[in-house]
Amino acid sequence: MKLRDKVALVTGAAQGIGKEVALLLANEGANLAIIDVNLDSANETVKEIEALGRKAIALKVDVRSSDEATSMVKDTVEALGSLDILVNNAGITRDKLLLRMSDEDWDMVMDVNLKGAFNCLRAAVKVMSKARSGNIINIASIVGLMGNAGQANYSASKAGLIGLTKTTAREFAARGIRCNAVAPGFIDTAMTQAMPDNAREALISQIPSKRLGTSEDVAKGVLFLASEDSSYITGQVLSINGGMYM
Ligand SMILES: NC(=O)c1ccc[n+]([C@@H]2O[C@H](COP(=O)([O-])OP(=O)(O)OC[C@H]3O[C@@H](n4cnc5c(N)ncnc54)[C@H](O)[C@@H]3O)[C@@H](O)[C@H]2O)c1
Repeated sequence: MKLRDKVALVTGAAQGIGKEVALLLANEGANLAIIDVNLDSANETVKEIEALGRKAIALKVDVRSSDEATSMVKDTVEALGSLDILVNNAGITRDKLLLRMSDEDWDMVMDVNLKGAFNCLRAAVKVMSKARSGNIINIASIVGLMGNAGQANYSASKAGLIGLTKTTAREFAARGIRCNAVAPGFIDTAMTQAMPDNAREALISQIPSKRLGTSEDVAKGVLFLASEDSSYITGQVLSINGGMYM
């Protein structure tokens, strides 16, 4: 086991990539705080983790609130004893071409995807700094690297998250805290299942590996960055995209 008795907190872990990450980290020995706005589904993730013999708690948190993020870290440390790994995964899309994008579409995506990650990260590094150890993984996106028509808000939030990752890595490396990002390509989850079939086919034709990624493909990258296998790696962006962007 690569993460025996570590405590990991994963945001947006009620479903999709976040849930898969939480289950893989638990399989490697970590105890988990499952964070989501959807408490019922977060509790389902907790049950699956407990069935693996690990401890887990579910907390209803909206990552847009810095107060809720602060309480989330406090509650996690009280319930599970420490906080070793933070995975900032909660994210949303509100896609529209730029000229049709409203202020609300812009603000909502920036607030969840970028401010939300900042809120959780700032709360977590206070605990990690005292422990002089910690590991943060931010879930960015291929479109934060290459842009995508219809996703001005989303691609800007994910590019911003990459900047936040690099700055955090520089500020906290000397205190034993690493910070990296993963940039998934198009992954088969609820977020991409909403696409029409023809758009999906067109997308797959652009991927050298000729398939969408799976949540498991992403979770394996997160596990690598969360474990000691990557102990000299910080401030990096790991692309998991089937070769779609190089
Ligand atoms: N699916 C993809 O193709 C893909 C590609 C690249 C990056 N990503 C990123 O991976 C992450 C997970 O994506 P997914 O496809 O699993 O999405 P998803 O919609 O299946 O899951 C996102 C989870 O985040 C939760 N969430 C949303 N807003 C929240 C908030 N304010 N506070 C707390 N929780 C909140 C949702 O309730 C949900 O459980 C996101 O950051 C997304 O941008 C996804």
